[in-house]
Amino acid sequence: MKKNKIKIGVCGLGTVGSGVINLLSNNKEEIEKRSGFEISVTCVSAAKKDKKRDCDIKNYKFYSDPLKMVQDEDLDILVELIGGETVAKELVTAALNKKIHVVTANKALIALHGNKISETSEKNTCDVYYEASVAGAVPIIRVVRESLNGNDIKWIAGIINGTTNYILTEMLKSKKDFDIVLKEAQDLGYAEADPTFDVGGIDAAHKLTILSSICFGIPLDFDSIYVEGIENIELDDLNYAKELGYAIKHLAIGRKNNDGIELRVHSCLIPEKRLIANVDGVKNAVVVSSDAAGPTLYYGAGAGSLATASSVVSDIIDVSRKINSNSNNTIPLLSYQNKELVNKNILNINDIVSRYYLRIRVTNKPGVLADITKIFGSKSISIESILQKEDVDSDKNVPIVLVTHEVLEKNIVEALSSIEKLDVVKDKIVKIRIEELES
Ligand code: HSE
Repeated sequence: MKKNKIKIGVCGLGTVGSGVINLLSNNKEEIEKRSGFEISVTCVSAAKKDKKRDCDIKNYKFYSDPLKMVQDEDLDILVELIGGETVAKELVTAALNKKIHVVTANKALIALHGNKISETSEKNTCDVYYEASVAGAVPIIRVVRESLNGNDIKWIAGIINGTTNYILTEMLKSKKDFDIVLKEAQDLGYAEADPTFDVGGIDAAHKLTILSSICFGIPLDFDSIYVEGIENIELDDLNYAKELGYAIKHLAIGRKNNDGIELRVHSCLIPEKRLIANVDGVKNAVVVSSDAAGPTLYYGAGAGSLATASSVVSDIIDVSRKINSNSNNTIPLLSYQNKELVNKNILNINDIVSRYYLRIRVTNKPGVLADITKIFGSKSISIESILQKEDVDSDKNVPIVLVTHEVLEKNIVEALSSIEKLDVVKDKIVKIRIEELES
């Protein structure tokens, strides 16, 4: 039976939760004109009722225990915006078992427990929508599950953590220190509760876990992702990369090749002429390259209260429409039918082939370059270009910046380990992969 009113309960009233309450209220008429029915928040849940927050909750029934809210209320949709895994997992499972549909922005929940949640949703013929879990306002989940579902997806590459992109952009633009820019990102509500998840690459890896499953038909497996953060990137690297015609971006990459699938999160040099190299600040962008559509690019705000709420509200409307048309479970949670999700060979990082940017701090004296290039030669590593910078430090050491041709990662790791043992080499060598991102 068609419902004129869809009843939703919102759990979690932080940055995203407040945004959802505000957006549903600000655009109530617009939303109803489009959907043809009322979407009504009947109850909310958060740890504390009287905390100062950016939304008005006085008209909603309040629960401090979200599980009790699910048990007691007659809801059509539970909106889970608590984050983290433990309570959220229990809550979502309880909702599905009570035949309540779920909308969530929780990437860790989907990345780490999505296989089980998918089974539970299938068993209960309920939908779980999670557009806001990856790339904030950018509708990338919908694109892969619905718009590109006639394609064989070859690779996907994205800037999917707004905080790291904001930090890298601001460091280069305003020459501010890492810590100051991170604090700005936290104040703007972009960073995770634990910001090491952002700068250490974990947040992007959660998101890549989700994207790789829906793009390549593999079960969610967070542990199969190779992860590096942005901690090793210095302002000098951003400047030298620019001189070489590249931007440094923290990318999540999933790519099928003849031997398996590469799944990796790390900083990369990208040619400045690529559109994605010009995505700055908290903005996210994802390129999807598929056989029929070719490369397509999706761009927008990757974090922030209303931007993320935009995706949550769109999911609420979609699920409401399905409730009213009795067409639940028509789009598999992970894009592929559950029984068609199969494990494939995920390549070890040592087995990938890449070009590399290297920065080596050395004593400035004759023969240093010869020693270094001899080691590269012994590992069949061919150098494409070399720059010796005149940025002498207080100890009179200078940086050498090298770009290699394509080489197996294992060979570069072995070569760098030998080079770091030379007396003339002063620090750990900075190594950044170069991605051309050509179709
Ligand atoms: N901390 C995340 C980011 C928020 O910076 O992108 C959105 O998932």
